[in-house]
Amino acid sequence: MNLKKELLRITSQFFEEIPDYSSAINEYKQFLLSVSNEDINNEVYLNNIQRKNGIAIGTLWAANCLDDLIRTHKFIKGIDIAIQEKIHQKGSLHILYAGTGPFASLILPFILKYADFNITYTLLEINPLSFEALKNTIKKLGLETHAINFINEDATKYNISKSFSPDIIVSETMQRALDSEQQVSIFYNLMKQANSDTIFIPEKITLSIGSSAYEIQKPDTLQKYHRKHHKVFEVSKEAMNSENWLFDKTTTQLNFAKKQTILKIEELSRAKEIVVMTEITIYKNEKLLINESGLTAPKYIEDISNNKKEPLTIESQYVIGSEPKLEIKII
Ligand SMILES: C[S@@+](CC[C@H](N)C(=O)[O-])C[C@H]1O[C@@H](n2cnc3c(N)ncnc32)[C@H](O)[C@@H]1O
Repeated sequence: MNLKKELLRITSQFFEEIPDYSSAINEYKQFLLSVSNEDINNEVYLNNIQRKNGIAIGTLWAANCLDDLIRTHKFIKGIDIAIQEKIHQKGSLHILYAGTGPFASLILPFILKYADFNITYTLLEINPLSFEALKNTIKKLGLETHAINFINEDATKYNISKSFSPDIIVSETMQRALDSEQQVSIFYNLMKQANSDTIFIPEKITLSIGSSAYEIQKPDTLQKYHRKHHKVFEVSKEAMNSENWLFDKTTTQLNFAKKQTILKIEELSRAKEIVVMTEITIYKNEKLLINESGLTAPKYIEDISNNKKEPLTIESQYVIGSEPKLEIKII
């Protein structure tokens, strides 16, 4: 089988107008697993790497991110829009992908799609097992002759060369509510080094205090729905330059403003739970809405069904540490 042709055939489906992309993405994953030929079900591939700013997930979990189908398709679409925009402005492009997993799955479709253009890819991955699997996959696909730099480093510390600043930076190193993984530290490190016109993908991630309630849809059918009350944290170039992001030079610690949300009695009348809601703008109109992906599933915080007579005050602050998260205190 000509693997390049097969990769092109499978991934070109992502750019067609078809009603459902699930079978194309499943086919893509099966193809990558068979090409890489790694037995990534082996126990060592399950191990996460613990760092001071959060975890980097194990190789198998990173490969499985592909199964989050709408996420995978929308990221690829968003990156395509960004590449098309940039390629018309410049003769050559540099794309940095921080946290590739074993397949660089969000970028791989473009290496052949834009083979006639002058694009350099920098593939950055911290996990040595994912990194080895990645190099192996690229080699087996016969893509190693393209302009690809492989870097086995920590993206929270990586230094971008001044003479070769990326035009597009992609990183999907997150879970819902920006729990546990290192997305915020990675973007902070890369955003402070990037040019003002560098596109970051995702372009914006927001966390909001929300509530969930049940609504009777049809007789005997209860439908859970979520209501967003107050945006309390944002990751974007604009947010990084705002007063909500505070870098402490003495401790070299990145801190974030504490937010207070007051939920009035009227707002709570039907609410059953307090949740954290995550929304992601991948790029321009490509957005991941609530519950479209595991990344935007609301995170349960507290049952408030017995507590509707008083307004609630909720304090929240994003905190980076070995387990990054939005810390929440309901007063
Ligand atoms: C959620 S997976 C995503 C895999 C793939 N990019 C995708 O979207 O399907 C995140 C990947 O980023 C890597 N990673 C996490 N923290 C990192 C860091 N600080 N530097 C470089 N890579 C990191 C993990 O090892 C993992 O392979």
